[in-house]
Amino acid sequence: MPPSVSVPTRRPATRIGGTLGAGRALRRRMLVHHVPLAAVSTAACVVLVQVAGRGFAIGRLASPTGDVALVLLSVTLLIGPVNLMLRRRNPTNSYLRRDVGTWTAIWSVVHVVVGFQGHTAGAFGFVDYFVADGRPLTNDFGMGNWTGLAATVVVVLLLVLSTDRYMRELKSRRWKDLQRLNYTLFGLVVLHAVYYGALKRVTSPFSRVLIAAVIVVILGQTIGIWLWRRRNAGPTATPGRGLGN
Ligand code: HEM
Repeated sequence: MPPSVSVPTRRPATRIGGTLGAGRALRRRMLVHHVPLAAVSTAACVVLVQVAGRGFAIGRLASPTGDVALVLLSVTLLIGPVNLMLRRRNPTNSYLRRDVGTWTAIWSVVHVVVGFQGHTAGAFGFVDYFVADGRPLTNDFGMGNWTGLAATVVVVLLLVLSTDRYMRELKSRRWKDLQRLNYTLFGLVVLHAVYYGALKRVTSPFSRVLIAAVIVVILGQTIGIWLWRRRNAGPTATPGRGLGN
């Protein structure tokens, strides 16, 4: 990612505890961000279940819920580049990005719960996802689960860090650096899906979503970096922020 230099901004778009962070504004943020995100992501999950045509069963929700989490994660990585393309302000603290990130974490947790069904039984059955005969599982199934576990840790960490409290405590630069774990998360999720065989069934709607997400994110980030470099190449470049992630 480019170092921290940005397009100059006129005023902070969102302040901690400011416009969208508290009180009535928080209720507005619920209506403007959270309710639509909940509705659209649930609808997307239902559509994926329908398109897959395998009927409804908890065990079959792993792919649709995983894909919904992946698409939301991709959106968090595209908000910065889109802001640059539209010449909009690209603040470090974007409530939109944080709220989409919250729904990425929510769908990830739903996906993990669903993903643990099916392969094993019993309270500690989940251990069989990672270990066999006292050794870490390193076949595709095991690697899929280790990368999934790492992705889960990162997404939960990012959710915790995305609160106003941590933003205040860590200060802008450090908070921003930690938010860049989002790229690591994306890489882990793609690896996880590949280990789970996404590229062995490329005509499946779930694999198509994965491939489309990877292409769009790489394209968006490439354009974003190019625009950012072009705008910050001159002597008037001001220290600040990068792509927003
Ligand atoms: C320990 C944690 C996790 C477990 C046990 C798990 C479990 C699974 C399982 C069982 C599948 C295969 C579904 C199928 O083929 O029917 C899968 C695929 C997938 N998972 Fe996870 N997952 C975990 C973490 C995550 C996280 C955190 C994300 C996203 C943020 C994620 C995103 C995906 C995606 C995109 C797929 C591919 C869907 C497809 O193409 O079929 N997973 N996961």
